[in-house]
Amino acid sequence: MPESAALAAADAPIEFIDLGAQRRRLDRRIDEAVLGVIDHGKYIMGPEVAAFERELGAFCGAKHVLSCANGTDALGLALMAKNLQRGQAVLVPSFTFAATAEVVAWFDAVPIFVDVCEDSFNMAPASLEAGIATAQRLGLEPAGVITVDLFGLPAAYDEILAIAAAHRLWVVCDAAQSFGSVYKGRNVGTLGDITTTSFFPAKPLGCYGDGGAVFTDDEETTAVLRSLRVHGQGSDKYDNVRIGMNARLDTIQAAVLSAKLSIFADEIAARDRVASRYRDMLADLVIVPVVPPGLTSVWAQYTVRLSAGHDRDRVTARLKARGIPTAVYYAKPLHHQTAYRDYPTAGNGLPVSDRLAGEVLSLPMHPYLSPRDQDRVTDALRRSLG
Ligand SMILES: Cc1ncc(COP(=O)(O)O)c(C=O)c1O
Repeated sequence: MPESAALAAADAPIEFIDLGAQRRRLDRRIDEAVLGVIDHGKYIMGPEVAAFERELGAFCGAKHVLSCANGTDALGLALMAKNLQRGQAVLVPSFTFAATAEVVAWFDAVPIFVDVCEDSFNMAPASLEAGIATAQRLGLEPAGVITVDLFGLPAAYDEILAIAAAHRLWVVCDAAQSFGSVYKGRNVGTLGDITTTSFFPAKPLGCYGDGGAVFTDDEETTAVLRSLRVHGQGSDKYDNVRIGMNARLDTIQAAVLSAKLSIFADEIAARDRVASRYRDMLADLVIVPVVPPGLTSVWAQYTVRLSAGHDRDRVTARLKARGIPTAVYYAKPLHHQTAYRDYPTAGNGLPVSDRLAGEVLSLPMHPYLSPRDQDRVTDALRRSLG
């Protein structure tokens, strides 16, 4: 091969998330899953939906699982089930995807933004306490907390659940990024009052469109969620007993998800190997994520922090030129975003979220990332920082 061609191959773009590799691995199983639904014709709430819900429950140990249309609706359903009222306050981290706070605003309730810990990117218990005090000072009734397990790592549940219990707050766990992770022997899906997740294609367990699920151990909540998912229907399908939504998971997506769930444990192990390799290769170069003892991460993102003095835009441009895609989650914490900046923050601003927003950089991460491509990523990062 001429030298220029070899160089071009060396710089050919790699995938940030390689869904094609997973597709090739599952191959006919995906085709059969999708065609099976097209052939039997039960496109809405077909048998694959209940089967997938059973499999999800078996996977994580939650007593009740309801699939739904996406991770945002999953949060909305959870807040409806918690009967969130106008003017109540809900404590949410600022360093997250917009949906976590957006759903609170749907109810004319008030998201109060809480800071995160710099080593976990997750809600800081001390800032949660400060946020509850902020709500009280503003004359708002704190109703609940939405934790987020950012980038796949469970939040500090021991501390957060204790604070919530002391203040009689419910806890909804936004596990859009963390389904499959473990917190001190307990699976995500079983930690708070209600857990929600997303099956957006790029999530660790993703479908070929939108999808989501809600988990709870409470039977009464499940009955309400089941009704809310289909327009608040009652036992008589012509009598809707509450205001709900249309939030069903498509049967085709359920069939796809069952096929993907069958290899999910293996994919989680592969993600963990990729993360360990990144850690070994990058720990001297950037601040790498740390998983506390007793916890696991499904590595929805592998997010490093560049130390001060590095121009992130320049680093990402150099990486791109070498065929390495990156992403910045999240460049702007929610409390600075246009739709959210008038909502209160805990205490005196959120300095950790602000700092992280300037430092974070997410690298390619998926179960099929080869050691060779990973070497390219780490080598390119080393050169781009130089
Ligand atoms: C933390 C978090 N919450 C909620 C959501 C919303 O999920 P979906 O895109 O399925 O509505 C996402 C997905 O992007 C997310 O990352």
